Amino acid sequence: MTDRRTPAGLTRRGFIAGTSGIVAAGAGIGAAVATASPAAAAEKAEPAKSGIENFWGVHQAGIVTSQQRHTYFAAFDLIATKREDVAQLLRRWTVASARMTLGQPAEPFARDPQAPGPDSADAMGLPPSRLTLTFGFGAGLFVKDGADRYGIAAQRPEALVDMPKFPGEQLVEARSGGDLSVQACADDPQLAFHALRELARQAYDFAQLRWVQAGFLSSDGRATPRNLMGFKDGSNNPSVHDARTMDEVVWVGGEGPAWMRGGSYLVTRRSRIALEHWDRMKIAFQEQTIGRRKYSGAPIGGKHEMEQPNLDAVDADGNPIIAENSHVRLAAAASNDGARILRRAYSYNDGANVTAERWPPWRQEMEFDAGLLFICYQRDPRTGFIKIFDRMAKFDMMNQFVTNTGGALFACPRGAAKGEYIGQHLFETQAS
Ligand code: HEM
Repeated sequence: MTDRRTPAGLTRRGFIAGTSGIVAAGAGIGAAVATASPAAAAEKAEPAKSGIENFWGVHQAGIVTSQQRHTYFAAFDLIATKREDVAQLLRRWTVASARMTLGQPAEPFARDPQAPGPDSADAMGLPPSRLTLTFGFGAGLFVKDGADRYGIAAQRPEALVDMPKFPGEQLVEARSGGDLSVQACADDPQLAFHALRELARQAYDFAQLRWVQAGFLSSDGRATPRNLMGFKDGSNNPSVHDARTMDEVVWVGGEGPAWMRGGSYLVTRRSRIALEHWDRMKIAFQEQTIGRRKYSGAPIGGKHEMEQPNLDAVDADGNPIIAENSHVRLAAAASNDGARILRRAYSYNDGANVTAERWPPWRQEMEFDAGLLFICYQRDPRTGFIKIFDRMAKFDMMNQFVTNTGGALFACPRGAAKGEYIGQHLFETQAS
């Protein structure tokens, strides 16, 4: 560890002082602070009043926040050896995140041209664009290779399980897991990336990137967005405006440790979709696969997108109108003892790769590496994602077009009140 991790207090003044020390040590020069500069002027500029999502509160932002158009998701491996260093990283991340969501740089712009800039400045002048930063803790924060490296193993919530192995998944180690997660979402992709880049920079000496995934969502904010399969995705999601349902489905209550109350569990999957294969299927088959009409989004047998799928409806021959192995039937709460989750997925598009398809026609050729960055939040993954995916992984007709190549589970702690830092209650429980 070096002095670069000089503690930054939670006050802006303390943080600036800490920052000067960091810059000076890193550059090997005196802590010269120039006076007026264009950076200083930009620093004082009023942040745009609109497009700000509140960072502080009982719940972290970015969970029931209406979905922004872009995400940049990252998982980190901790390399810090002391608990206090992890707490310090979270303090720095909290301060920087609160600033960036207001449209400010992660740290005040450098006044000294001889020092490295404490913010890349590539988002300078951009409006806040509803940036949210949502933090999660993986099992590795508590126990890594059997070791309680930060003395907080006893605080690992039961719900932060080791995920079972599901049939058909091809999770790649380098795209899975992680000790910490950060979900950056914004209506501007550059802002989401900028925020992550700044947090990664601040993690230097504490944590290193493990995997990242960018995602996008085409929506005007009113109509349900379509995924890359061309279907409306999110129609039957529980409403984020219904606080009572969010309490039931998303937020951890009294059953969790104090630091998780008001938090949530995030499960993610990088789901590659064999688009070339899918695009050659008849629309009627695609509709059977999903259980909904492609263009209107209505459940099969219904007329309107927002109608509840009628899982009991049968045709003249007594066969279910919504197929037994259709996605919506297998995912429905009624098929899973009432299990529900809040989906917050994004499409992704990572170019093309030579790919061996795992279903007929078994093609092996250059194919798009594109699909869905599936993200869902729930009160408990055992009664949420795991419960739903258990049967889906075995029987869903959609599986012949979808391969999960990465995934993770993170415990997203309760939000921070102004002056606190994300995860403070976890680290303080231990200290006392
Ligand atoms: C590539 C992967 C996936 C795609 C393309 C996809 C697509 C869709 C579509 C088009 C719908 C219908 C519209 C809607 O209600 O939103 C839907 C519904 C749903 N999906 Fe997925 N999905 C995927 C993976 C998953 C996974 C992994 C889960 C959970 C384990 C899941 C859970 C659900 C749920 C709970 C519903 C609502 C079902 C209902 O009650 O009507 N999906 N999905």
